[in-house]
Amino acid sequence: MNTATHTILSPYASKISGTGSAFPRDRLTNDDLAKRVDTSDEWITERTGIRERRISRPGHPDEQNSSLALAAALKALEMAGKTPDQIDQILYATVTPDTIIPSSACWLQKKLGAHRAWAMDLNAACSGFIFALATADQFIRSGQVKTSLIIGADVLSSVTNWSDRGSCILFGDGAGAAIVERTDSEAPHRILSSHLGSDGNLWEHFHVPAGGSNLEVTPDAYSKNLHKMHMKGKEIFKSAVRTLSDYALLAIESNQLKPEDIDWIIPHQANLRIIEAVAKRLDFPMSKVLVNIDRFGNTSSATVPTALDEAIRDGRIKKGQTLLLDVFGAGLTYGSVLVRW
Ligand code: ACO
Repeated sequence: MNTATHTILSPYASKISGTGSAFPRDRLTNDDLAKRVDTSDEWITERTGIRERRISRPGHPDEQNSSLALAAALKALEMAGKTPDQIDQILYATVTPDTIIPSSACWLQKKLGAHRAWAMDLNAACSGFIFALATADQFIRSGQVKTSLIIGADVLSSVTNWSDRGSCILFGDGAGAAIVERTDSEAPHRILSSHLGSDGNLWEHFHVPAGGSNLEVTPDAYSKNLHKMHMKGKEIFKSAVRTLSDYALLAIESNQLKPEDIDWIIPHQANLRIIEAVAKRLDFPMSKVLVNIDRFGNTSSATVPTALDEAIRDGRIKKGQTLLLDVFGAGLTYGSVLVRW
């Protein structure tokens, strides 16, 4: 297990001061999918908890990855009371960038007019938002950055194999954003800890074989769908339950807390049964677990920030509450961040 946690003594800490989210317009229901592959609403709902997901219209300027991120970022900025020129850093977690070069972070910087910010993409698959949040936290604690915009956004529909019923039922498109800013190291509202991990030995659980420098998308690769996601569902399921549980406990125990001290767990939304299995392992009530997978499916790095944003805006999350953000993703990657909101 490799982790990053708060070992630097610093006069600074960081806090999340604004969140935002955005989704494409079009809904794809389970019944719609049943017209494309041999499946049913009943099977998908029972096995995954997903009822519908949002899908970007290909080529639509408002529904590119960075356009969804722009809409989410503007809402986060408004909540934080900040303007784009106050952003020092944009950390953009995605596995489906607008273009390989330049980064989606640079596309977003241009669209937002965040001319002072330096910007980069970060790939930790579905764990990306937490990896970006932990990175922003470290830059802020080091004193180098005051205000960071972090994004978790993916258009997974662009790498979904729509003829594979074992995977195409799971995914959707969306974007979440957060403004992370400098505060005092002992401030009541702050990020309390972050723990990150990876295991590249398990790369085969979930990968896209073609489209990187290892394998071009030749006509042959294209005809075999090698530019789309390939997944071992059962293996992922088991790794997910194990790593989500381990990293939740790591966050709780390293802060000398107990599970009952956590007000909300915001887990990566890959399958409702994974989330329920983790809650059961932790003996944690599902009533305190945020879920949006029923309406949006697995939106990769966007699941946690969009679920967080929804619960902040509808008043479920209240000031002073302790939030456990807990993720896993392809790589494999995994991690948790504990936040006092
Ligand atoms: N509709 C109907 N039947 C289906 C479907 C479908 N969409 N998909 C599979 N089946 C069938 C299978 O063929 C199999 O039939 P068989 O028994 O005749 O062989 C049967 O249903 C059971 O299939 P399983 O694969 O055992 O189903 P399981 O309960 O494991 O559910 C699922 C599959 C939903 C993919 C589950 O394993 C899962 O969610 N895994 C985690 C996936 C995940 O998290 N991926 C992303 C992780 S990384 C990231 O987030 C980017």
